Amino acid sequence: MNIAQLLDNKIRNAMTAAGVPENLPALVVPSTNVRFGDYQANGALGAAKKMGMPPRDLADAITAHLDLEGIAHQTEIAGPGFINIHLSWAFLASLAGDLYQNVRAQQGRRAPDPDKVQTIVVDYSSPNLAKEMHVGHLRSTIIGDAVARILEYQGHRVIRQNHMGDWGTQFGMLIAELEEHLGQGEQPELALHDLERFYQQAKTHFDTDADFANKAREYVVKLQSGDSHCQQLWQQFIDISIAHSEAIYRQLNVTLQAQDIRPESAYNDDLALIVSELKASGLAVEDAGATVVFLDELADKKGNPSPVIVQKSDGGYLYATTDLAALRYRADVLKADAVLYFIDARQSLHMNQVFTLARKAGFVGANMDLQYLPFGTMMGEDGKPFKTRSGGTVKLNELLLEAIDRAGRLVAERSADLSDEERSEVAHKVGIGAVKYADLSITRTNDYVFSWEQMLSFEGNTAPYLQYAYTRVRSLFRRAGLDSTGLSGDVVVSADAEKALVLHILEFEATLGQVSEKALPHILCTYLYDLASKFMSFYEQCPVLGKDVDEAIRNSRLQICALAAETIRTGLELLGIETMERM
Ligand code: ARG
Repeated sequence: MNIAQLLDNKIRNAMTAAGVPENLPALVVPSTNVRFGDYQANGALGAAKKMGMPPRDLADAITAHLDLEGIAHQTEIAGPGFINIHLSWAFLASLAGDLYQNVRAQQGRRAPDPDKVQTIVVDYSSPNLAKEMHVGHLRSTIIGDAVARILEYQGHRVIRQNHMGDWGTQFGMLIAELEEHLGQGEQPELALHDLERFYQQAKTHFDTDADFANKAREYVVKLQSGDSHCQQLWQQFIDISIAHSEAIYRQLNVTLQAQDIRPESAYNDDLALIVSELKASGLAVEDAGATVVFLDELADKKGNPSPVIVQKSDGGYLYATTDLAALRYRADVLKADAVLYFIDARQSLHMNQVFTLARKAGFVGANMDLQYLPFGTMMGEDGKPFKTRSGGTVKLNELLLEAIDRAGRLVAERSADLSDEERSEVAHKVGIGAVKYADLSITRTNDYVFSWEQMLSFEGNTAPYLQYAYTRVRSLFRRAGLDSTGLSGDVVVSADAEKALVLHILEFEATLGQVSEKALPHILCTYLYDLASKFMSFYEQCPVLGKDVDEAIRNSRLQICALAAETIRTGLELLGIETMERM
């Protein structure tokens, strides 16, 4: 149980003793200013209103029944009836001591088991395989990965689903093009080495050569009816395209694995069934040859229902049909309690239609939680969506190589004493970390400006700043010749900066709760940035290794340092960002 929960229980008990009905909450939150204590309980105001009594009187009655012996050294009533709680430093010190022992025993921070373990499907990354991954895939990939890691850390059963786009009309054109390359004796890996160029070639071919275009159309039909030659070409194409994505995932330190891929084609056999069931239940109707569901729930202002086409007049199925089949699979086979979709903001109508229809058709139960978690656009410094100088899409691979290269130049300037091997490791971790952190530290739903200079700065709310803060603590242990997991003795808290740091360290799990509740990783970034700043103040004000420092204090402060480092490391790891011992 974290501190806020503990206080919440205590206050709620005191409310009961003061005659407050059980359904009225205590509303304990961290205080915004230390002058008002460490936490405040705001529930007396609302409760007093419901009970028709002056809020200060109720706050008085609650505090009279409040027993915070050993937890708080002072409580007071402020303003119209807030209860301010000043935690006891000895209490914080003992929690920090317990935490240190736990961290030590398990070799890292571990979250307590959740009250209720859920099966949570996280749908993220999900690129289309016809083309190479570009910056448009970055946000879904790294935000989804951070949230998946955090839910897992909290003890949930997380099932990653990479809903890759491997089906659809473009594949006719692509396999026809591939067939020609292979016919000229080219190796598939070489032909598809630059997927983007290959796609452009195929497209030009399609647009300028009528025979080729006919063949491409014929190949779509053949592929969809299971023709083995077309299937084989398609499989070669898909395998290579997936290999491209996997190389990016490794480069990006993203946890997606081959077994997480469940592409669109995996649902092929279910599509006809989805359509016939929708027809049988009367939800889908024929409309100009196509099969359509009209959703009144999503009608426009004039009352026209929202149309969802589930089968085209030529018999082809659509993106929505596949998503319905995927949802049914997630409900029936994966037995998900919740499904989280990280897809950009432009697909909101699509997701809304799919969710509404899936519920209406009974493909998912009423208590399965479906969440569409959109994100804003990555902008260039010119304020327009991020593009290459000539206005093309930026390949993810090239962007990441540039990040590592830029970080490498910085590292060469700053850390001349590192070996070549260490320097390249640091360049990789700093470059990739910077790109990811710049994205994750902004409120998910906002647009943000991609700026190399800002993200690679060693000052401010950036990955390099946090990675550097971590190495500083690690170097302290190296200098002292100490193992950070071998400390013992009580933790004592004896200075303001020390207390602020310890309290913040103890709020880590509660912070993760806020992050996962709304899938907002920036809350964790802000927390880590505050943690690093609080560590710096502590380190300035509270000597750790100095000659005059008493042995017990030194041992205590070293434990606090170890906890700070471990919390930064774990927090960054949950964001998918690596740390290093030196930089
Ligand atoms: N492949 C799609 C795209 O690139 C994203 C798929 C997202 N997931 C889903 N279940 N629809 O736009």
